[in-house]
Order: sequence, then C-alpha cells, then structure tokens
Amino acid sequence: MSEEMLSKVSDYLDSRVPLTQIAQGAEAVVFSTSTHPYLPLRESNKKFVIKYRPPKKYRHPSIDRALTKHRTLSESRLLAKLYLIPGLKVPQLIACDAYNGYIWLEFLGEFLPDDAGFSNLKNFLWMYADKDPYDAVVQETLSKVGEQIGLLHWNDYCHGDLTSSNIVLVREGGTWQPYLIDFGLGSTSSMVEDKGVDLYVLERAIVSTHSAFADVYKGWLMQGFSQVYQRHGEKGDKKLKEVLNRFQEVRMRGRKRSMIG
Ligand SMILES: Nc1ncnc2c1ncn2[C@@H]1O[C@H](COP(=O)(O)OP(=O)(O)OP(=O)(O)O)[C@@H](O)[C@H]1O
Ligand SMILES: [Mg+2]
Repeated sequence: MSEEMLSKVSDYLDSRVPLTQIAQGAEAVVFSTSTHPYLPLRESNKKFVIKYRPPKKYRHPSIDRALTKHRTLSESRLLAKLYLIPGLKVPQLIACDAYNGYIWLEFLGEFLPDDAGFSNLKNFLWMYADKDPYDAVVQETLSKVGEQIGLLHWNDYCHGDLTSSNIVLVREGGTWQPYLIDFGLGSTSSMVEDKGVDLYVLERAIVSTHSAFADVYKGWLMQGFSQVYQRHGEKGDKKLKEVLNRFQEVRMRGRKRSMIG
C-alpha cells in the first residue's frame, strides 16, 4: 500500500494507533495493531486486526461507497451471528465502521511462531507439499477444515469466496484449528446451490495449487464435512445427499463451461 494511503488511514484512525500491514488482498488491506478501538488508548498485549476496504478508483464514487458499505456491514453482521454457533470458528468482531470501510477483529494466530512459515491453509499445504504431503497432520487439518464448512452449511450459511487463503490456521490444543475468514460475500442461505458452489470453489482452489494430492485431500475434507451432517441422523443423511448431489452437478457444469472455453 502507498505511503499516501497509509497516512490517510493513520490520520483517520488516530496517529497513535500503531499499524503493521499483514496482507493486501484483492479487496482490502489488513493491518495488525495493539490498540483496542474503544478502550482507552494504550498499548495492550493483545493484537487486533483492522480490515480496511479502500475506495476503488475504477468504480463510480457513489457505487463504490454503496458497495464498500454493503460488504463491510454484511461481513460484520455475518461474523457476529457466526461467532455464536457452537463449534464454528470465526474471528470475533470487535468494531465496524461501515461508511468508511473499517472492521476491527480479533487477531488470529497470536501465538503462531513467526517461523511457522504459514498462517492460512494455502501456505500450510504448500509447506507440506515439499515436506510430506500425506502427513497425518495434513489429514487431521483438512478434516477439520471440512468440519468447519460442514458446520457453516448445516446452519444454513454460505461463505461465497471459499478459497484456501480465506481459511486461517491457529495452533490450539496441540492441533491446527481452522478458522473461516473473509465473509464479505457470505450470506444466510438454505439453498443447496450456494453450498455446492462453496464446495466447488474450494475444490478448484486445491486442485489448481496441489493437483498431485488433490484427490486424497478432497477425500479428507469431505470426510470432515460429512461427519457434521451424519451427526444428525436420518435428516442429516438426507441433507448431506442433497448437498453432495448438487456439488456434483456444479462440478459437471464447471467442466462443460471449461470445455466450451
Ligand atoms: N482476524 C485475522 N487474524 C489474522 N490474520 C488475518 C485475519 N483476517 C485476515 N487475516 C490475514 O489477511 C489476509 C487477507 O484477509 P481477507 O481475506 O479478509 O481480505 P481480502 O482483501 O478479502 O483478501 P483476498 O482478496 O486475498 O481474499 C488473510 O488471508 C489472512 O492471512
Ligand atoms: Mg481473502
């Protein structure tokens, strides 16, 4: 991000709020900070994340303002609801300033050693691809990723942009606990179509970056996913079948589209 933008952000927040940029995505710039948004200004030993959606010059200003407000609000609302679902892991929402495009979140992975070499699922898989792609740790982690998606879908929410960089891994109780992030395109939805598309998007992300191990990885993911549904007896089995059938349909459509070009 440019010096100019950084100084705008800093001026807007308060120049005493320390900012460390941790990511620049397609939509947003993500900072970490040690300042809580509404507790007295002092260095805390906790870390927070500020996700800022800057204005996009290529969009008409009024459309841009509306879109930024919409995505920021909808991500915040969704996070607040998802945080209450037992077992589902998302960062805690701390504050939201929708008109200006700011969200403050709990920082995930505070205790991740800097030399871990990854923080999201994408980098995790890259690291294990070189080391031991079929390590039991990969199986355990992917199954937990599947479980998180299963919980999301079972509760009738959809992510809308389920790529492997929107899944953050946090060290918890000796294992890697996946957290789902980036809900700007998420929604409440009971539609199997939306769920099938979520699964398809994640499958594409894994096939395109880790094709040699993709089939095994998909199996581990879907095992965790299915378990969530199967805990709910006959009703769960029925719903699982519906989602899996639609997933297969979405996949077939995707294939046809890529054949046509
Ligand atoms: N609460 C958090 N704690 C720790 N890291 C985070 C948190 N939120 C986001 N990140 C980091 O910042 C990155 C970008 O965040 P996010 O996906 O929300 O923004 P984005 O601009 O939509 O990104 P993209 O366009 O790449 O999907 C994540 O991949 C993750 O590494
Ligand atoms: Mg993202």
